[in-house]
Amino acid sequence: MEQNNQEIKVVSMPRIGDKAPEFKAVTTQGEINYPSDYKGKWSILFSHPADFTPVCTSEFMTFAHMEQKFNDAGCELIGLSIDGLYSHIAWLRTIKEKIEYKGMKNIEVKFPLIEDITMEVAEKYGMIMPGEDSTKAVRAVFFVDPQGIIRTIIYYPLSLGRNFDELYRVLIGLKTADEFGVATPADWQPGDDVIVPTAGSCGTAKERMESDDEEMDCKDWFFCTKKLDKEEIMNRVVKK
Ligand code: BEZ
Repeated sequence: MEQNNQEIKVVSMPRIGDKAPEFKAVTTQGEINYPSDYKGKWSILFSHPADFTPVCTSEFMTFAHMEQKFNDAGCELIGLSIDGLYSHIAWLRTIKEKIEYKGMKNIEVKFPLIEDITMEVAEKYGMIMPGEDSTKAVRAVFFVDPQGIIRTIIYYPLSLGRNFDELYRVLIGLKTADEFGVATPADWQPGDDVIVPTAGSCGTAKERMESDDEEMDCKDWFFCTKKLDKEEIMNRVVKK
């Protein structure tokens, strides 16, 4: 497509609710078929711009440091960058042997890091944003559920490192919504009140407003919250 003498490339990007696009890739942990190898588990597929770069190194160390926490919540991590396998191996070795950051050292990255020098996977997932950089992936994060459906997508630019506590909160929030049939309000953290599905009929709206259920707090007919213990969430959505 041509617009003002400028070539515009039309790319399709996966959306929330879509099936995660399939691919086969070489990684630092062997070959993977995604998302089929992860059937029955949550996974987070995330991209980063390049190996041997500072923001990415800080992010990789943080994710590797938190990997067990994500695994305990039934979620596997998979990284990607537009670099080759030997560069990935050399970078991960350097991180383990030489880099100390915020008290983290000797960090071994055990999750797979995809080699995507051809940009095939990055293009499929809309990780290349030419206005930002046409040869590097932006910092994209895809949360994929056990059925292989994309449930959340977050994008960050090259200059901004991700907040990994927020990524964990998103995972627990998604699992809590599924497990308990609720929604989670602004800034929700496990242990905070959750939102009960909005009344779908005039009768339910009336019932809610007239109810003396102490568990439920209705600010109005469409906005009711209830308590949900952190312990119950941890027992049902996190293994440990
Ligand atoms: C970084 O990870 O430090 C980085 C990578 C690409 C562009 C800017 C920063």
